Amino acid sequence: MTKKDARLLHLGILGCGPISQIAHFDAAKKARNVELTAICDLADDLRERMAVLHQPRAAYRDYEAMLADGRVEAVLIGVADQFHVPLALQALQAGKHVLVEKPLGVTIEECEALRDALEKGRSGSPSPSVRSPGFSRPEPPTNPTTSEGERPPPPLVLQIGNNRRFDPGIAFARKFVQEEMGELLSFKAWYWDSLYRYTMTDNLQAIPLISEAARKPAGNPKADRRRYFMLTHASHLVDTARWLGGELLSVRARLRNRFEAYCWFVEVEFAQGALGHLDLTIPARGDFEEGFQIQGEHGSVKGQVFLPWYHKSSVVECFSTKDRQYRRPLGEDAHTYKLQLEQFADRILHGDRQHGANLDDGVAAIRALVAIARSIERGERVTLAEVTGGV
Ligand SMILES: NC(=O)c1ccc[n+]([C@@H]2O[C@H](COP(=O)([O-])OP(=O)(O)OC[C@H]3O[C@@H](n4cnc5c(N)ncnc54)[C@H](O)[C@@H]3O)[C@@H](O)[C@H]2O)c1
Repeated sequence: MTKKDARLLHLGILGCGPISQIAHFDAAKKARNVELTAICDLADDLRERMAVLHQPRAAYRDYEAMLADGRVEAVLIGVADQFHVPLALQALQAGKHVLVEKPLGVTIEECEALRDALEKGRSGSPSPSVRSPGFSRPEPPTNPTTSEGERPPPPLVLQIGNNRRFDPGIAFARKFVQEEMGELLSFKAWYWDSLYRYTMTDNLQAIPLISEAARKPAGNPKADRRRYFMLTHASHLVDTARWLGGELLSVRARLRNRFEAYCWFVEVEFAQGALGHLDLTIPARGDFEEGFQIQGEHGSVKGQVFLPWYHKSSVVECFSTKDRQYRRPLGEDAHTYKLQLEQFADRILHGDRQHGANLDDGVAAIRALVAIARSIERGERVTLAEVTGGV
C-alpha cells in the first residue's frame, strides 16, 4: 500500500475510457500526494463500474457537476484529443488546475487561444482570494490534514500528459545535457510502434472496458492514419526532442507509406544549432523501439526507451569527457503516469517547479506536428512560426 502524504491534492478524473483505466486511476491511487476524489463519464456503465472498483468520493455523469464540487481542486482530462481544449478551458474557468492528456489540442489556433485565456485569467486574478470573471477559484477544500503555515497555492497550473518526461532515464539524460554536455552537435530520436503492440499490451494489462455510450468526436478520428499517428505518437517524439534538444525552428519531412506501414523521416533545425533527425515508424515489423542519441561538446548520450506499460526506466548511458566514464542510472520507479501526477500535485500544493509540459510546450508541439504535415504536403522545409491550422 502506498503511504500517503498528510496533504493530498483532491483530484477529479474526467473520462473512464482506456487511458484512465490503464494509467490514471492506478496512478491516482498510488501517487503519494493525491486523493481520487471524483470521477466523471457520461457513459453510465463505465462510470458505475469504475466507481465500484476505485471508490472515489463522488462519481458524476455531468462534467459541470464535477467542476462545481468544491472538494475537487484539480482535474485530469483523459478524453479524445478533439475535446481537450474546450474541456480544459471549462475547468480553468471553474478555478481548477488541469492535467490534460497529450496532445494539448488538434489545431494551433485553439491551443493558442487556451494559452491566451489562461494568461489573461492569471493577470486578472493576482491572488487566489480575488475572483476574476474568467478564472474564479473555489474556496480551498476542507481538509483536516492541511498543515498550518503552508504557502498559498500558485496560480492555476496546466500540465500536459507528456509522461516520457517523468521516465527517470530521460530525466537523467536531460540533466546531463543541461549541466554537462555543453554545445550540442547532433540529436537523433526514433519512435517505432510495433506491429505486435496490442498482443503485448493485452498481456500486460486487463483488457479495458469499452462502452457503446462513450462520447466520441464526430466521424472516426483514427480513420486518417497519418493524422492519428501524428497526434498520438509524434506528440511524444516531438516533446522528447524539445525536452532534450531545445526549441525547434523548422522541419523538412518525408513520408513513405507501404504495406500499411508509415515512416516519417524529419530533418530538424534546432534553435541552438544542433543537427536533428526524427524517425517515426508505425507499425514496425519488430519490437517497440524508442530512443535517442545525442552528441555534444563534452559528452554524448544514448537512450533506449521501453513501451511505457512496462513501467521500466529507459536504459540511458551518458559519457562525460570530464571523467572519461559512462554513467548509467537505475531508475527503480518508472511509473511515469504516477510520477507526472505526483509532480503536478507538488507544483500545486508546494509551489515546486513544473517539469511537465506547460501551455507553451503544448503550443510548440502542435506547431511542430503541423509543420511536419505541411512539409510533406509541400515537399519543402517549413518553419514552425509560419504554420496555421491542424495536422
Ligand atoms: N500518455 C499516453 O501514453 C497516452 C496513451 C494512450 C492515450 N493517450 C491519450 O488519451 C486520450 C484518449 O483516451 P481514451 O482512449 O481513454 O479515450 P476514449 O474516447 O476511449 O474515452 C474517453 C471517455 O471520456 C468520456 N467523455 C468524453 N467527453 C466527456 C464529457 N464531456 N463528459 C463526460 N464524459 C466524457 C467518454 O464517454 C469516454 O468514456 C487521448 O488524448 C490520447 O492521446 C495518452
